[in-house]
Amino acid sequence: MAEKSFKYVILGGGVAAGYAAREFAKQGVQPGELAVISKEAVAPYERPALSKAYLFPESPARLPGFHACVGSGGERLLPEWYKEKGIELILSTEIVKADLPGKTLISADGKSFKYQILIIATGSTVIKLIDFGVQGADAKNIFYLREIDDADKLIEAIKAKKNGKAVIVGGGYIGLELGAALRINNLDVKMVYPEPWCMPRLFTAGIAAFYEGYYANKGIKIIKGTVAVGFSTNSNGEVTEVKLKDGNVLGADIVVVGVGGRPLTTLFKGQVEEEKGGIKTDGFFKTSVPDVYAVGDVATFPLKLYDENRRVEHVDHARKSAEQAVKAIKASEEGKSIDVYDYLPFFYSRAFDLSWQFYGDNVGDTVLFGDSNPATPKAKFGSYWIKDGKVVGAFLEGGTPEENKAIANVARVQPPVESLDQLAKEGLSFASKI
Ligand code: FDA
Ligand code: NAD
Repeated sequence: MAEKSFKYVILGGGVAAGYAAREFAKQGVQPGELAVISKEAVAPYERPALSKAYLFPESPARLPGFHACVGSGGERLLPEWYKEKGIELILSTEIVKADLPGKTLISADGKSFKYQILIIATGSTVIKLIDFGVQGADAKNIFYLREIDDADKLIEAIKAKKNGKAVIVGGGYIGLELGAALRINNLDVKMVYPEPWCMPRLFTAGIAAFYEGYYANKGIKIIKGTVAVGFSTNSNGEVTEVKLKDGNVLGADIVVVGVGGRPLTTLFKGQVEEEKGGIKTDGFFKTSVPDVYAVGDVATFPLKLYDENRRVEHVDHARKSAEQAVKAIKASEEGKSIDVYDYLPFFYSRAFDLSWQFYGDNVGDTVLFGDSNPATPKAKFGSYWIKDGKVVGAFLEGGTPEENKAIANVARVQPPVESLDQLAKEGLSFASKI
């Protein structure tokens, strides 16, 4: 069996992998010491582009334009960059077996990779409707979106079904971003989700009402409180209809499903401690197994600010956790120590000409402020979350960079609030004066 050996291996070639590779290069890595192994065919890129500019009908984003680390305003790491640094990019290579005690990874094509230190950065995979046994869910033109290959297949279908009908199943991040992207591509879009409002993991009813109104004004029909229970197909096996639990049937040329993600921990089951569906780490992203780190979507780490272990499925954490792990590895080699990870959760999304940011924790009472009328051009509004008399979370639609900085600061500082009415009146100016 072909065998290769490295000092460091990053397993996964997504966002965290790109930022970890850059941090290794910054800290100093010798040619041949580091390998990135990815089942994708391309070097690490900024995954968020796939549900946004990658799907634009005009001047879409394409590689090499959005390789890591441009998403955070950094250097774009092209395949040549890895070559120059002596970092081996092992692409189109799926690892199918991980032997953590033996410090060995085995690929689908039978290659063996030895390491001294492993960083697990396998990210998430999509939850599929077939997993719930939904009838007809394997029909053609039912799409999921995680990797660039998925996006390319969707783009082919958009071209083939010009001006056709699209149904989006799910009202989370993928649902809202893809609903917008398909509408921009001039498809007739309907969205279906089981909850009373979109993005219930984060949005309050007040926040959601703005986005649902805005989408309706763009011609998107939203059907709430029901789920897809089956699909009809034509003689080519292509989807033609989505059957809903409430008895309605929607015509469809394209279906996009976004019903959540699942961290890819399967390879390590029984070999490493897990918590909350992820691989448990400390504040340096060290797992329960010596010399094995886990970063990005797969890591359940101590969120110091809330004194709780959490998993975060967002790009800012993928970047920062990767950098933290590499700094910790390098420091420990030199007998030094670094501060534990002290993360302020940051999520964002963009769709149509909308753009929001959220910082902190969405728990406790909420206060909506600003103009959240979906008909207002360039509406600016937000929400605070208040727990134990302190502001712990803040959301802002349409903020300037300074305003977004102000809400981030509020979520970090957690200032006390005496009256919720007063906070609603002050709105954004409350954050700006902290
Ligand atoms: P990531 O998924 O980026 O990378 C994992 C890599 O591991 C992949 O290359 C995969 O192929 C590889 N891999 C997995 N198993 C393997 C195996 N066995 N062998 C070899 N390789 C393997 N977040 C946000 O904050 N704002 C946003 O706007 C968006 N937008 C967005 C759009 C879309 C379409 C998606 C799917 C996700 C987002 N996100 C986001 C979430 C964000 O992209 C996500 O949290 C990070 O990509 C996580 O980074 P990781 O490196 O952990 O996983
Ligand atoms: P999600 O968890 O955001 O949303 C899942 C949604 O699926 C729920 O809100 C619900 O409306 C819906 N749902 C659940 N079961 C359903 C069913 N049977 N039928 C219909 N709807 C159902 O997950 P997602 O939108 O699929 O996103 C996948 C991953 O990608 C997540 O990790 C997410 O964080 C990430 N992502 C993030 C961003 C961003 O941060 N801007 C953008 C895209 C994707």
